[in-house]
Amino acid sequence: MKQITTINEMRAEAEKLRLAGKTIGFVPTMGALHEGHLELIRASVAENDVTVCSIFVNPTQFNNAEDFRLYPRIEQEDAALLENANCTYLFLPSAAEMYPAPAKTNFNFGELETVMEGAHRPGHFNGVALIVSKLFHVVQPHKAYFGQKDLQQYAIIRQLVTDLNFNLKLVRFPIVREASGLAMSSRNRRLTPEQLQIAPQLYKTLCLAAEKLQNGSLSEAKSAAEAHLQNYPEVKLEYFEIADANTLQPLTELKLEQEVALCLAAFLGEVRLIDNLVLVLK
Ligand code: PAF
Repeated sequence: MKQITTINEMRAEAEKLRLAGKTIGFVPTMGALHEGHLELIRASVAENDVTVCSIFVNPTQFNNAEDFRLYPRIEQEDAALLENANCTYLFLPSAAEMYPAPAKTNFNFGELETVMEGAHRPGHFNGVALIVSKLFHVVQPHKAYFGQKDLQQYAIIRQLVTDLNFNLKLVRFPIVREASGLAMSSRNRRLTPEQLQIAPQLYKTLCLAAEKLQNGSLSEAKSAAEAHLQNYPEVKLEYFEIADANTLQPLTELKLEQEVALCLAAFLGEVRLIDNLVLVLK
């Protein structure tokens, strides 16, 4: 695996590969890689001639300075995992390389970002759209892979790709979970052993609500979720939403065959976790 730290070198390499007719798969990450990321890498390796993984803890998408400071950074361990998964390139730029001066471009995704993560993390999706646009320009992928755990991020990037005519295919990859049901996340590393015992209740909450939803009741689904989490006072629920899986707007009624997303965010101590479950109403 080749490691690249400058935009110029990464762009030159991508142009060379494209001229040689090679397809480029791209997995953008902020590092602290886990099995969920590695599944994305494996999918890209299987479907493309080369795979580029980027690791960049993007300062512009953090609305909480402490969360940015504490975000796990373990590039050496990450590089070993990527090498093992047959990743071809690791793009590892510095903050000065990606932002030589503060960016002034602003994105507005309208109602896509006024709900859930967008509502609770002001500026977050602006930072995501900014860095993903920059990375797409530098890496020039044919296919880019994103995990469904960040469902709203995926919807924002899909809109970005449409609006700015990025010539690439997006892949939404299913959530990878621990045996306990806990969605894999780089932030899980910050949980204490006690918090790790409780964290799987987030998925359990989604499953209980999904059952009620399949029985046809939005309000029962919401109360089942809230009632379940009341058994776990350590969990501070930030939001629980039942939304259209594509527009992410909250549902007021249920329709058969509709793709529905149950989404939540909650704090365990200082660690903020998100999870979701997408289902088709039968
Ligand atoms: O999902 C992430 O890890 C980040 O939001 C991304 C897409 C790499 C942009 O920094």
